[in-house]
Amino acid sequence: DKSGYKHFMAKEIWEQPTVLANALSAYLDGNTIDLPESLDFANTERLTLVACGTAYFACLTAKYWFETLAGIPVETDIASEFRYREPPIPAGTTALFVSQSGETADTLAALRFCRDRADRILSVVNVAESSIARESDIALPIHAGIEIGVASTKAFTCQLNVLYLLALKAAVDRGRMTPEDLAQALDDLRGLPGLFNAGLDRDVTIAEAARAVAESRDVLFLGRGLMYPLAHEGALKLKEISYIHAEAYASGELKHGPIALIDKTVPVVVMAPRDALFDKTVSNMHEVMARGGKVLLFTDAAGAAEAGADVWRTVTLPEVAPALTPLLYALPAQLLAYHAAVAKGTDVDQPRNLAKSVTVE
Ligand code: M6R
Repeated sequence: DKSGYKHFMAKEIWEQPTVLANALSAYLDGNTIDLPESLDFANTERLTLVACGTAYFACLTAKYWFETLAGIPVETDIASEFRYREPPIPAGTTALFVSQSGETADTLAALRFCRDRADRILSVVNVAESSIARESDIALPIHAGIEIGVASTKAFTCQLNVLYLLALKAAVDRGRMTPEDLAQALDDLRGLPGLFNAGLDRDVTIAEAARAVAESRDVLFLGRGLMYPLAHEGALKLKEISYIHAEAYASGELKHGPIALIDKTVPVVVMAPRDALFDKTVSNMHEVMARGGKVLLFTDAAGAAEAGADVWRTVTLPEVAPALTPLLYALPAQLLAYHAAVAKGTDVDQPRNLAKSVTVE
């Protein structure tokens, strides 16, 4: 049932404020993160995060959180590479697998490779009775509800929600976060659904930009820090459902090759909240504009005021705690892909050549 929406993807994007609020409350008991007792990170020496597609970009985001908040070294890998490379798994490793379906063949094979090698196996899944959940020591549900659109939207933000809570828990376990800081972080999380609602109000602006983007053959996505994994997620979403060629780069990599692609036919989506890295990203953005590139900027009011006048279009999002930008900024990326696909008349919920769950290699 699409509840009045034209597509399941639209329904799943718009229900994120509600779904995220529920997903969060499933893990909170006042200002305590309610996770299994045995899930302690005090002695974790290393984390290996493995997944495919969108779930992999959730892992890449989590790497930034675990490293900066908890000080745990993190490796991330794509399951299809990890499983055949058979990397050494040193003692003290916790392996964590992220999968919406819990049935992705490569992710399951990677988990089985870690079975007798890692200290413990965690998974972050949407389907609690899935193979990946069953074969994990601890399976953490994301509580996104059934996701029907092939393009993952609410499952991605709900994966981020659980991964962020895990990173906070790890920070507390390792004595790197005070109860006051934790309370503040949880308050910020509780504020997210409201910010998502405000973000959804930008839909008309995003849809207009998307109609113009839909005319392009190639689109680049740029971001730094926490916005770098999200740039990948934005590019994946756009190519999956609108069939427009899209690539993501870390903003700082622009000069090392991709800048050669820039001309007036290539829209460049720049994801840049006004954070500590903003000035760096803006300078990359100006390099793009100096070569005729059309910049679509996702930022906040402070960022919009500083970005300068020559930006092609700006989507101004509400201000959000820096750690939570990947959750909020996923929204305009999803809406951009959605509206570009609608403008192109593609099959939004069942894009060509793709299956919701990839259970074969
Ligand atoms: O069920 P999983 O999370 O393991 O699926 C992984 C990928 O196949 C999936 O995220 C895919 O990339 C989506 N279609 C992205 O929108």
